[in-house]
Amino acid sequence: MNAARWRLDGQLALVTGASRGIGLATARELAGLGADIVLVARDEAHLEQVRDELAEEFPRNSLRAFAADVGEHEQRLEVFDFIADLGLELSLLINNVGMNTPKPTLDYSASEYRRIIDTNVFSAFEMCRLAHPQLVQHANAGIVNVGSVSGLTSVRTGSPYGMSKAALHQLTRNLATEWAEDGIRVNSVAPWYIRTQRSEPALADPDYLDEVLERTPMKRIGEPEEVAAAIAFLCLPAASYISGECIAVDGGFLRYGF
Ligand SMILES: NC(=O)c1ccc[n+]([C@@H]2O[C@H](COP(=O)([O-])OP(=O)(O)OC[C@H]3O[C@@H](n4cnc5c(N)ncnc54)[C@H](OP(=O)(O)O)[C@@H]3O)[C@@H](O)[C@H]2O)c1
Repeated sequence: MNAARWRLDGQLALVTGASRGIGLATARELAGLGADIVLVARDEAHLEQVRDELAEEFPRNSLRAFAADVGEHEQRLEVFDFIADLGLELSLLINNVGMNTPKPTLDYSASEYRRIIDTNVFSAFEMCRLAHPQLVQHANAGIVNVGSVSGLTSVRTGSPYGMSKAALHQLTRNLATEWAEDGIRVNSVAPWYIRTQRSEPALADPDYLDEVLERTPMKRIGEPEEVAAAIAFLCLPAASYISGECIAVDGGFLRYGF
């Protein structure tokens, strides 16, 4: 076995939404594999606290934090200025930020559904474009987009969220083919319910939780670390011939017809 194919030493990964949930678990997993990380989230104080904790856990890695809203173009540019100033080149981009306000379709105002699409799709699209000049310089360059089972089948999340995640999965397929000649692999993950701050309110309703578990072959909610592991695998040199793929992290949910 070539152990180096299962390591990310010397690679710089940008993880958006890295201060909690799936993003934080991903930053930790990638750091554990040797990667240096730039963590991005909006709440600066919380982000710095998380960075300090990770820095203690991984004293040999370079762990940087930059507070930004990746839904705002000026702030996306600031993230890449920050990376340029570090003098390090990015080789991995994890587009993890996503938001939702679930409602019946007829109840959305135009600004509400546009915000979901802007944050979940256009920000990831722009982050990919901004990262390209740096990714193209690396032998093991990759992007992983955090989609959702909601982008692959209908679940009760509201249609704009489903549309946005479907678009993110299609962006993944398009870039995988377009940027293959640039040596950039582009993949996605599709989680079903994962235990995070974001999913907590819905899962706190015992009847709803029962319904979710009833529809989940593995009869449990996923953990952020289980999504992070799939993301990390897609980043590794070990996944060097995998591009345009989507790994469902869903306890069998998508395969459960009846
Ligand atoms: N949890 C689930 O069950 C589940 C299932 C399927 C898919 N997903 C997807 O997984 C991703 C992560 O979800 P999660 O449950 O881990 O969320 P979470 O626990 O709410 O964490 C969200 C993270 O993103 C940051 N963030 C949010 N909006 C941001 C923005 N505009 N710019 C920069 N940072 C931002 C948050 O920090 P700040 O608030 O400080 O910015 C936080 O670090 C999302 O794309 C979600 O759609 C989640």
